[in-house]
Amino acid sequence: MPAITLTTLQSLKQKGEKITMLTCYDATFSHACNQAGVEVLLVGDSLGMVLQGHDSTLPVTTADMAYHVACVKRGNEDAMILADLPFMANATLEQTLNNSAKLMQAGAHMVKVEGAVWLSESIRLLTERGIPVCAHMGLTPQTVNVLGGYKVQGRNEAQARQMRADAIALEQAGAAMLLLECVPSELAKEITHAVNIPVIGIGAGSDTDGQVLVLHDMLGLSLTGRAPKFVKNFMAGQPDIQSALSAYVTEVKAVTFPGTEHGFSA
Ligand code: KIV
Repeated sequence: MPAITLTTLQSLKQKGEKITMLTCYDATFSHACNQAGVEVLLVGDSLGMVLQGHDSTLPVTTADMAYHVACVKRGNEDAMILADLPFMANATLEQTLNNSAKLMQAGAHMVKVEGAVWLSESIRLLTERGIPVCAHMGLTPQTVNVLGGYKVQGRNEAQARQMRADAIALEQAGAAMLLLECVPSELAKEITHAVNIPVIGIGAGSDTDGQVLVLHDMLGLSLTGRAPKFVKNFMAGQPDIQSALSAYVTEVKAVTFPGTEHGFSA
């Protein structure tokens, strides 16, 4: 059991102290993130893009995810490890249970699933069987082909109303955490206040309970040469990677990151 648990994250929300999360895919960065005090290491299926060089997260398999979870676990001491269920790994309830079990047995402490209110049944089932769940809402990269691109979600009132209702329904289904990606800052703030579970944001403004970035993005590394608007390059002005990771933790805790320039309006 790591030092950081769901109880820790819950109490950080209650105290109003921001939660720090970064993606992480290997043992060395796991150790470095621990040294910097990052509370949650997300083994994200973004590894399909930043490690494997695909143009989306869709080719990532549960075996890929389990391999990287095991790597991160070997470098980890204190942090909570959150692992993505990749594309279609939760196509049926049986697959959801089996694939989540593989990630937990590889070393994850919680799984993340992309979607909305339709996730309720699987979240209830996983939680009953001892697997905490983080529900990823807003821009869900696994559905990029339905969304028509990597676009901000919840900009019109009907979508915003639906997202608020879904967040509450997923909390009631047993979700232990929500992650909001590319959502207008004001909507993310409303959702954060409407639920009792921690809400982590990426491109969702500074009022969520915590922040996450893709490790390579915040270190200024990119295959395309273009960084999304919500990214800050924490290597700028820092002598080494360890200092950049510490600067991220300091800025999230001090609420100096994200700035208004990193967020979206409705
Ligand atoms: O896969 C991932 O890295 C993620 C983050 C973008 C939140 O889901």
